[in-house]
Amino acid sequence: MTLDNTPPAAPSPARRDFLEASWLALGGLAVLGAGYIGLRFVGSSLTDSAFGGVIIAGRLEEIPPGTVTAFPLGQFFLVRNAEGGLLALYRKCTHLDCVVTWNATRRRFNCPCHGSQFTEAGAVLNLPAPRPLSHFAVIVEEGLVRVDTSQLIERSTVQAEDWAYPPPAEQP
Ligand code: FES
Repeated sequence: MTLDNTPPAAPSPARRDFLEASWLALGGLAVLGAGYIGLRFVGSSLTDSAFGGVIIAGRLEEIPPGTVTAFPLGQFFLVRNAEGGLLALYRKCTHLDCVVTWNATRRRFNCPCHGSQFTEAGAVLNLPAPRPLSHFAVIVEEGLVRVDTSQLIERSTVQAEDWAYPPPAEQP
């Protein structure tokens, strides 16, 4: 038995062209993949700030008790009551969907269309609104307040459980 010690033959020019084209194609795919992942990341960030997704409302210490803050892009008002509870009220009136406004002096929501009024908890003060303002889930984690606008919570009465209270450790 004999061993062949001759070095392998150099690739032909056509084969070298093919190998170079293959490496270029693989590099291109890698760049496209990285770009796609980057776009996905940007896309998820945009979803976080738009109505229909989870919206970061701010840090808990930036939302003092007794305040009502409008989030026009999120289509809600974030109410923080005197006890520190949080409620994200959908801004549309339950009569015919007009957008309500907050009257800070009288501390109530007014509907400009047919005169309905609501308390800061969203309870009906003046008809014709048939039920309280709807709301969204509020999540407080690590000092950050998020509002999940993907699911509207409709209600026939207002209840203490509608308010989200931060864990005691999160209270400023
Ligand atoms: S839409 Fe609000 S009172 Fe009619």
